[in-house]
Amino acid sequence: MSLSKQLFEIALECSELFLKGFNAKKNIRYKGTVDLVTEYDVVIEKKLTDKLNKKFPDYTVVGEENTTKITYPVKAIYIDPIDGTTNFVHQIPHCAISIGIWENGMPVAGIVYNPVQNECFSADVGKGAYLNGKQLHVSKQNLLQQSLVATGFPYTKVKKGKDYEWVLKCLANLLPITRDIRRFGAASLDLCYLAKGTFDAYYECNLKPWDVAAGALIVQEAGGKITDLDGKAYTLDEYTIVASNSKIHDALLEQL
Ligand code: IPD
Ligand code: CA
Ligand code: CA
Repeated sequence: MSLSKQLFEIALECSELFLKGFNAKKNIRYKGTVDLVTEYDVVIEKKLTDKLNKKFPDYTVVGEENTTKITYPVKAIYIDPIDGTTNFVHQIPHCAISIGIWENGMPVAGIVYNPVQNECFSADVGKGAYLNGKQLHVSKQNLLQQSLVATGFPYTKVKKGKDYEWVLKCLANLLPITRDIRRFGAASLDLCYLAKGTFDAYYECNLKPWDVAAGALIVQEAGGKITDLDGKAYTLDEYTIVASNSKIHDALLEQL
């Protein structure tokens, strides 16, 4: 069985819990001024971690809720139990479990599973990207002016520092010269929607490896391009991620 299929089986075992939480009134803790965490983030991560440790004993599981200092083990499984926690809290059905396997700094397999919409995006390196078994391809759009570009806003925006300034600069540059901008609230799904051809590009700053470990491979396997701000191949410790259908990549980089 492919690695992504094995990851999906593990995620599926958490779907009931995810749905229960999505529909329930939740207890909210604050990791930052607007960075929320619910009891479901914690229990889903624990359940995923236990199952992954059992199935993949050679790998180190790096999960959002359990990590104080981010590490990049040679054989790593990065998990985000709920990507899009703000959506989850507000019952916006755009949130997902993200699991990505990386070896020696390269993506190997990943899934992004939204139990609310029953959508599972998956990829194994060299084998293409899929949504519920149907192969995905990035869009063919080659005009930035006709591109739908997704982005996200880091929680650090409240400090009005470097991240906030960059977000505003990018919006000011891109709004007039794109079809439009979207902020859907889950980085992993932003990448999958790019892979699916819904978005033509996506960029964000200050993401963490569990946000992108799965989605980055899904984009790559759907024919997309992912770099840093200088156009260099994206690595998980990079401050910015710029992803596109490849055709509008250079034009987008010029604006960021
Ligand atoms: C967040 C989401 C959001 C992005 C933030 C992430 P979380 O993850 O992916 O779209 O803009 O930067 O931190 O906190 O919902 O897991
Ligand atoms: Ca996340
Ligand atoms: Ca999360």
